[in-house]
Amino acid sequence: MKYAILGDIHANLEALQAVLRKCQELGVDKYLCIGDLVGYNASPRECVELVRSMNLEVVIKGNHDEQASGSTRLAGFNPQAAMAIEWTRQQISDDQRAWLNALPMLKNLGAKMTLVHATLDMPEKWGYIFDPLTAAASLHYQFTQLCFFGHTHVPLAFDKFGDVKGGPFDEVRIQAGHKYMINCGSVGQPRDGDPRASFITYSPEEMLVNLHRVEYDIAATQQKIRQAGLPERLWQRLATGR
Ligand SMILES: [Fe+2]
Repeated sequence: MKYAILGDIHANLEALQAVLRKCQELGVDKYLCIGDLVGYNASPRECVELVRSMNLEVVIKGNHDEQASGSTRLAGFNPQAAMAIEWTRQQISDDQRAWLNALPMLKNLGAKMTLVHATLDMPEKWGYIFDPLTAAASLHYQFTQLCFFGHTHVPLAFDKFGDVKGGPFDEVRIQAGHKYMINCGSVGQPRDGDPRASFITYSPEEMLVNLHRVEYDIAATQQKIRQAGLPERLWQRLATGR
């Protein structure tokens, strides 16, 4: 069995399609999504439709999904992100809005795996995990061996065995007695300085998690963002992965 865990797709259809092609090459059996299907980029309808058509076992709600499917005042969003959310609200159908709104914030898959967008201690507060200290707060509330999460758009893996250690990774070998929080990076707006789309695969039989990076047609995505009249910063950042 091979799982692919995808997240922070952010309405980037070209990146999502490139990732799904790579997953087919890798022989992925099941897909899981840790949220933020929409926001920032210009293909929210298409990305929601594509993910829905895949009938995933788990799709988690991200903060952009929450805001795009709601009508609140966008507290905590920077002006460019807020503009994109307001634009996204106009783009998605009522049916898509209801579907996004009904997504869960946290889900366990069997006894082994937890999926969340941001943190486990306060999933609805949308905090960021960038270091072992913030990971430790979440690990305290983690009752499975593995937790996959996103939100920061930076792939990082944290390993708790007594202390919590962690940092960038290409591969994690799951060991008995350890607990892990693994951020799969972002499909649609990476921020670790590598502009390629990011996702992970997990093989329970091999006890192995792998990070994958995939090139996609960034220029095509940028063109759509410009045509939609969304802020410049949103298309510019895709080329640098920041
Ligand atoms: Fe995000």
